Parts: sequence; structure tokens; C-alpha cells
Amino acid sequence: MNKILVIDDEKFITWSLKQGLEKEGYDVTTSGSGEEGLEVFKSETPDITLLDVHLSGMDGIKTLELIKELDKDALVIMITAHGGVEGAVKAIKLGAYDYIEKPFDLDRIKILIKKALETVTLKKEVRQLRGEQQEKYSFEKIAGHSESMQKMIALARKIAGSDATTVLIQGESGVGKDLMAKTIHYNSARTDKPFIEVTCTALPETLVESELFGYEKGAFTDAKVAKKGLFELAEGGTIYLDEIGDMKPSTQAKILRVVEEHTFKRIGGLKDIKVDLRIIAATNKDLGKAVKEGNFREDLYYRLKVIPIYVPPLKERKEDIIPLIMHFAAVFGKEIKKEVKGITPEVEELLMNYPWPGNIRELKNIVERLCILGSGNVIDLQYLPAEIADYSHKPITKEEEGKTGEEVQLALPKGGISLEDLEKDFIRQALQMANGNQTKAAKLLRLTRDALRYRMQKFGYL
Ligand SMILES: Nc1ncnc2c1ncn2[C@@H]1O[C@H](COP(=O)(O)OP(=O)(O)O)[C@@H](O)[C@H]1O
Ligand SMILES: [Mg+2]
Repeated sequence: MNKILVIDDEKFITWSLKQGLEKEGYDVTTSGSGEEGLEVFKSETPDITLLDVHLSGMDGIKTLELIKELDKDALVIMITAHGGVEGAVKAIKLGAYDYIEKPFDLDRIKILIKKALETVTLKKEVRQLRGEQQEKYSFEKIAGHSESMQKMIALARKIAGSDATTVLIQGESGVGKDLMAKTIHYNSARTDKPFIEVTCTALPETLVESELFGYEKGAFTDAKVAKKGLFELAEGGTIYLDEIGDMKPSTQAKILRVVEEHTFKRIGGLKDIKVDLRIIAATNKDLGKAVKEGNFREDLYYRLKVIPIYVPPLKERKEDIIPLIMHFAAVFGKEIKKEVKGITPEVEELLMNYPWPGNIRELKNIVERLCILGSGNVIDLQYLPAEIADYSHKPITKEEEGKTGEEVQLALPKGGISLEDLEKDFIRQALQMANGNQTKAAKLLRLTRDALRYRMQKFGYL
């Protein structure tokens, strides 16, 4: 039940508001003075306070100031005498939500209260969501031991704390560009303001302008009311232009001014709108090259790359691979209540040699799969995807290809031997010799990969 506190020295007013609002299902407390009202405010923490401007003793304006000192988000609606607009204006400046004039219409008050409560609920939800985001995106949570990552994180921290308004993040797909952009935003002074993500590839050309800049009423046939665009909605916060390398040349031309001057016009609008925002652009393309090839505007490129961040691909920071795997294994392990303690040496070697074209995104997905499918508490071979199990940067040696031409001479023991056991043991040995690489193991046994896999299955190795 929402609580309402009414502070007024006219008994009739407090009485009638209490009657009327209790009927609506509110929990109403009343008080006859500012001093007492303030104490009630402290103990009751009402959702809304209705406060008379003209109180004997401490007046309403002073009471409002003190309430706001206690809780800057307190919702206060002022009650003013007829024609007392001056006091109301002062109160609004001090942070009152709205005001009503006496004599008032109870229905109007009810509507006003309902609207105000909806606003607080929404505000609370947004704040809670932001709080969650702030916790989720902290620099401490970015895994990366390598020197290049450490340097990059230090740079990103510096940028977050600065008032740099244009940042360009470059790096292959899946290296962590989105993560970096969000972490910068949620650790900057802009953290309580919006983070608006625009995927440049997803914007249809016909809608680009209205999405980004908004429009005035009547700008085109369907524009019945004015609409703010994304640049305007990001006011005070960060706009993240993802995949900017894929932005059409015509759109590049349109955003140049807002990137340079933080100023633009809505479609059909005459006046310039100035926005305070940080623009973070990201791309997996080599923009310098795109400029040379005539696919990206040079002026926009130079404007964007005032502060460049380069996130290195995983293959250039191999020392991060195992720590990242353990990091994600811990995260997923917790979710599914399995503790992953380690990785077998064979798997470690395979993971270290693999070039990770999909970078951390790929690694994260694979670890998730290994955690779900694996039964033991170490990550082992059997659930590795084929592209990793079969990958080796080393060329296959003659020996591995089985072209040694050696005659095979294995003497049968006197008591005989189970051919099946022998087969099983040789398959195990071949897999070991090939470090788990099935293609190589198959070659060692002069089998096709499918034939080997069939046998592995038969013997329970798969
Ligand atoms: N250093 C890191 N530590 C932890 N998680 C990371 C790291 N880098 C990337 N990730 C995770 O990998 C996935 C891909 O990252 P993302 O930022 O979307 O990449 P990009 O935008 O460069 O394609 C995301 O789930 C992200 O949270
Ligand atoms: Mg991305």
C-alpha cells in the first residue's frame, strides 16, 4: 500500500484529503505543522508528501528544503493558496514534483498522485537496473593477464574518468569491444545517464535519419507528434555506434556534424539541438584501410580516432587463453553447480594452438559447452568441438601420415591375445600420440577419421 503524508495546518484540508485518499486505498498520515511533519516524514518514509506552502511556524518552502535534504528523490506535491504561484514556482525549483491550488478538486489530486507514483516506480526500476549494470560492468571483472590487455584496461580506465567525448574501439569480432564500451560508460561520471546502443548495420537507410535525429511534428505525413532521436535520448550519457565500419557513406555524412560539434537538427526542425554525450564507436574493420579504399570518410575517421583503443585478438595474447577458460568455467560452473578444477594437458595444448578466429566469444561458448557436457571436474578431450580437436598449427609429419614404410612386426604372445583389446589399446595410444587430434590419430592407424570415430565410439572413447 502506498503511503501518503499530508502536512497542512488547516484541519479541514487534512481531514478531507485523508477521507478521500483512504477511499482510494492509500495509507494516509496527517500532520499540522512543518516541524512535526518532518519528524513524521523521517519515521514513516511516505511515497508522496502533500505539503502546504503557507504553514504557521516553519513554512512549507523551508519544510520542503529539509525533506529534500533527507531524501533528494522525495516526491512532494505542494498545496498553494489560490493565486500563490510565486511560492509554487520556488518550490518546483527546489525539487517539488508539482503543485495544486486551493480550493482543489479531489479527482485532480487523485490523478496527480497516481501519475507521480507511476513515475517513482519507473525511476526506481531504472535505478535498480542501472545499479545492476554498474555492478556487472566493472574493470575488475574484465579477465586478462597479458601485458597488452593490462595496458588496454589501464587506458580504458583513464578514458572512463576523463571527459573525452569521442572514442574509437577497434578489434576483431568477439574480442570484447562491446564489453569495453559498456565498462567505460558504467565507470564514468555518466553512469546514471543512458547508454544507448546503435548497431549501424541494422539501421535501414530510409530510417537512419529519423532514428538518429528524431523529427518535428509535421516533418512528414506520418509525423503527427515530434519524436526524439537516439542522439537526443542519450543526453548526458553515452551513445555506442557499433559496427561503424559498415555504416553507409550517406549516413556517415549525416553524422559528421554531431560527432564534431555535438549539434544537430531534428528532421523538419530549424533550431540546432546541442547534446552532451560521449560517442563510442566500434568496428572490426580496419578503418584506415577503408579510408584508403574510399569506403569510409576520412574526416569522420580522423574525428572518431582522437582516442583509439585497440583490443588485440586472442591469438596475439595466448597467455590469456587458459585464465579466460578458467574464468568462464568458474562462471558457468557456478550456474550449473559443477566445479571445474582444471584442464588435461592434451586439451591445454590444443586450446593454446588453436587460432580462435571468433576470439573470446567463441572461447566462452566452447567453455559453456564443455561445462554442460563434461561429467568430471576437469575439462577433457571428448567434448572438444572437431575444429579444435583437429586443428594443429604444426604440419603433419611423415611419421604421423603413416608413410614411414616400416614393416610391422608384432609377435603374438604364446597364450594368444584378444584382438579387440589390442585394437582398443592401439586406438588409445594413437590418440595419445596425436595429442587427441583425431585426424592425425586416424592417419597413424591408416584409417579414415570416420572409421576411427566409429571405433572410438565402440570402445567408449567418445
Ligand atoms: N576480457 C574479457 N573478460 C571477460 N569476458 C569477456 C572479455 N572480453 C570479452 N568477453 C565476453 O566475450 C563476449 C564477446 O564480447 P563482445 O564485447 O561482445 O565482443 P565484440 O563486441 O568485440 O564482438 C561477451 O560475452 C563478453 O562479455
Ligand atoms: Mg560487438
